[in-house]
Amino acid sequence: MIMEIKNRILNRLKENREYWTSGEDLSITLNLTRTAVWKHIQSLRNEGYVIESSSKKGYRLMKIPDVLTSAEILDGLATKTFGKTGFYYMEEAGSTNQEAAALAENGAPEGTVVIADHQSRGRGRKQRNWFSPPGTGIYISLVLKPPITPAEAPRITLLAAVAGAETLRHLTGLDISIKWPNDLLVNGKKISGILTEMSAGMDAVNHIIVGIGINVNTSNESLPDEIRDIATSARAETGSVHSRSSIVRSLLEYFELYYDLFLRGEFHKILTRWKELSGIIGRKIQVDGINSRISGTVLDVNDDGVLILKDGEGVIHRVFSGDVILPR
Ligand code: BTN
Repeated sequence: MIMEIKNRILNRLKENREYWTSGEDLSITLNLTRTAVWKHIQSLRNEGYVIESSSKKGYRLMKIPDVLTSAEILDGLATKTFGKTGFYYMEEAGSTNQEAAALAENGAPEGTVVIADHQSRGRGRKQRNWFSPPGTGIYISLVLKPPITPAEAPRITLLAAVAGAETLRHLTGLDISIKWPNDLLVNGKKISGILTEMSAGMDAVNHIIVGIGINVNTSNESLPDEIRDIATSARAETGSVHSRSSIVRSLLEYFELYYDLFLRGEFHKILTRWKELSGIIGRKIQVDGINSRISGTVLDVNDDGVLILKDGEGVIHRVFSGDVILPR
């Protein structure tokens, strides 16, 4: 409730950005005391909004911070479902995937979105950590409840990679490619990763959580030593700061577009785009599994995201998981 009133004050200031909005106007239209208005203004200032005040003229919004709150993300979000059926913003989460899974188990509908400004235990694939500092990255998880079998679930990860790549290509102008299975790379370095987690029975999916991490305004120097040579951010690559909230909105819109295609039985279109963006078909690569290393030429990536590889002796391998090493 408090949130709602604060957002209504914010919307009024946004509509009236060219002018001053009097405290009286706000208190009458929102049915609040002048002191209550002032408290909400203070709380908006604490979130980073720069609001000038004058005892004669009232309030004026001077600067909108790049925050990922519902007030900023839902303002102008052109989706039907994603972010609209449920939206949770947390300044700090352990892991947004974990939060989203708990919500899904308690009945949160498809399209529910969880975003954190900072994660204290951000999770990556293969039990790795995901570096999640405040104010510079995007850490987002989506709740899906598709009517599919568990065997079809890997397609969702391929779909998420295409949505992420298209978003970053459009909003940053960077030449983003996909590295199998679902890393997003630019100039050979990782800018984004996807962690899909599923809860399922024998033949039906209960829910799927798609977690996406994007390094947006992270500076190169702030990256931990162990990933500095292999990771990058939109800012490090373009030299300019990017709006995290615009990227989140676009990501949700692209995701919904591809997810609808998938549900309509048109996954082949997404896979075609995945292959274009990965450029992996026909390349000689090496894949490191837990206890194995296979080198060979990529023949295909099938509907389930399985890598089909032909080694030097002509033996065909079906690779389900691993780390791809691309020769220079
Ligand atoms: C990887 O490349 O290893 C996957 C990284 C996935 C990171 C995201 S950030 C949002 C969501 N919450 C998590 O704990 N992990 C994913």
